[in-house]
Amino acid sequence: MYRTHTCGCLRSDHIGQTVTLAGWVQKVRNLGAMTFIDLRDRYGITQIVVEEHSAEEVRTIASKLGREWVIQITGKVIERQSKNPKMATGDIEVSVEHIVVLNEAQTPPFTIEEVSDGGDDLRMKYRYLDLRRPPLQRNMILRHKMAQEIRRFLDQEGFLEIETPFLVGSTPEGARDFVVPSRMSPNQFYALPQSPQTLKQLLMVAGFDRYFQIVRCFRDEDLRADRQPEFTQIDCELSFAEQEDILEIFERWAKHMFKTVLGIEFTEKLQRMPWIEAMEKYGSDKPDLRFGMEFHDVTDLAKGHGFSVFDDAEYVVGFAAKGCAKYTRKQIDALTEFVKRPQVGAKGLIWIRLEQDKIKSSIDKFYTPEEVRAIAERTGAEEGDMVFILCGKKFKALTQLCALRLEVGNQEGLRDPKKFAPLWVVDFPMFEWDDETQRFYAMHHPFTSPKKEDIQYLDTDPGRVRADAYDFVCNGTEVGGGSIRIHDAQLQAQIFKCLGFTPEKAQEQFGFLMNAFKFGAPPHGGLAFGFDRLCSLFGGSESIRDYIAFPKNNAGRDVMLDAPGYLDQSQLDELYLALRKPEA
Ligand code: AMO
Repeated sequence: MYRTHTCGCLRSDHIGQTVTLAGWVQKVRNLGAMTFIDLRDRYGITQIVVEEHSAEEVRTIASKLGREWVIQITGKVIERQSKNPKMATGDIEVSVEHIVVLNEAQTPPFTIEEVSDGGDDLRMKYRYLDLRRPPLQRNMILRHKMAQEIRRFLDQEGFLEIETPFLVGSTPEGARDFVVPSRMSPNQFYALPQSPQTLKQLLMVAGFDRYFQIVRCFRDEDLRADRQPEFTQIDCELSFAEQEDILEIFERWAKHMFKTVLGIEFTEKLQRMPWIEAMEKYGSDKPDLRFGMEFHDVTDLAKGHGFSVFDDAEYVVGFAAKGCAKYTRKQIDALTEFVKRPQVGAKGLIWIRLEQDKIKSSIDKFYTPEEVRAIAERTGAEEGDMVFILCGKKFKALTQLCALRLEVGNQEGLRDPKKFAPLWVVDFPMFEWDDETQRFYAMHHPFTSPKKEDIQYLDTDPGRVRADAYDFVCNGTEVGGGSIRIHDAQLQAQIFKCLGFTPEKAQEQFGFLMNAFKFGAPPHGGLAFGFDRLCSLFGGSESIRDYIAFPKNNAGRDVMLDAPGYLDQSQLDELYLALRKPEA
């Protein structure tokens, strides 16, 4: 038997017992007569002590131990002289009677402790060592617990867990596919699924009624802190369900997760914010509601006073940054630089400062104090506030102002990761116009049902059509999203037409689905939550990487496995592939 206890479980109740522990040497402190060893495993750290009167053999081995050696010790649990209230096992230590070295270790390239001295790249290369650190162990444990809780809940609600294939056909809608060449069908490729969307719809046609899967999805898109090329969805689909039924179940599920995992109880019904309201009030379809500072349209007040920046703009919009009149010139300049960064893209920033009966602004030249005050009051600003204003094309200005609002929120410490503000965003537009390609794209995906009352505009004014689509948003992150699906082959054909598919192209790409709909498809809908995002949200981190055991870096590489990599010529030959050098 390698151990009788783990390194996290011994307490003063165990004093006097002889125990055997196994684990990694985190630290050795040699204090002359005594040697202290911090022995670590997944469950915690226990202090081991080699005393002056310990056997010669024990002292010899102890003197050789290095960091991360794997050892087994047997000894007596004794009361600690100086207790450590910060450690769960801090009341005791184990006085060694016997040590066995199970494996030696090279000195690790960084410290394997709560806080490591290793840089990002190094820790990614030796991810298995980084994963030994308590914070990452806690993250993986949280992820595991959440997965169990999700399964328990969905099982109780009658959802069946059904797997779907990873080698599927490519569908150019949405993000870029990762593709896999086929040896048996020369020159043909599988694609890895961006999500099991069409497959789960086929499971509804197959009569499974309620499906779920905690499933890997693959998307070849630019990476960010909350995006990985392979990520995990909690993917769900329901038959004979309307939007209301789906929101009801998954709101209950979300509240269940908050309660069981974090002990946070939401008793009120979650807010349901129409997409247009989210955009106009927060400049985002994933508003962070942990703080206010809502936007207000001041176009009518701003235009017509000879200030050409506003006069030439389609839309002028601002918000009152609460308590920010204190901002110095330097801080305002920094925020101006912030909105001018290419990632935000604004041309400049207008401000109005409201201090004790004094109002000052960057547009004083063009407006009377009363006019400036009227603009400020429209935004709800009071004494002590600073109003920030941007202008331009409506949705562009709104999105830019959103970036500024979040930045002010960060600076003011209003985005506390321990605080949660979940909501549903509903009534998304069906289509999104793309100027570059001069065509509509499905805002969610092409299988999303338009709202019944908007179907009449499909041919005449597609931009006006709203969808039965919904997102679950929390703290400025889109955690999940879904929709009611089209289950009627004719309506589906009409949507493909709006999206610029010829009937032949639609048949070629989605024929399998449209044909299936001819065999009695039930009305259905569903949604998918980003599991990695949910874990990082619950764990209070911005980066989903911390919740994925083996993530990719920002360039999409696995630096530990050194993937992607080259193939041997023989492998290429087998796949009928010839490579071309990338142009410089
Ligand atoms: P959608 O594309 O909105 O919907 O994805 C659902 C959720 O998956 C998460 N997510 C990601 N997480 C990490 N890295 C990524 N690259 C990434 N992309 C998406 C987000 C998102 O809310 N089939 C539909 C769902 C449906 O309609 O049922 C779908 O995939 O949290």
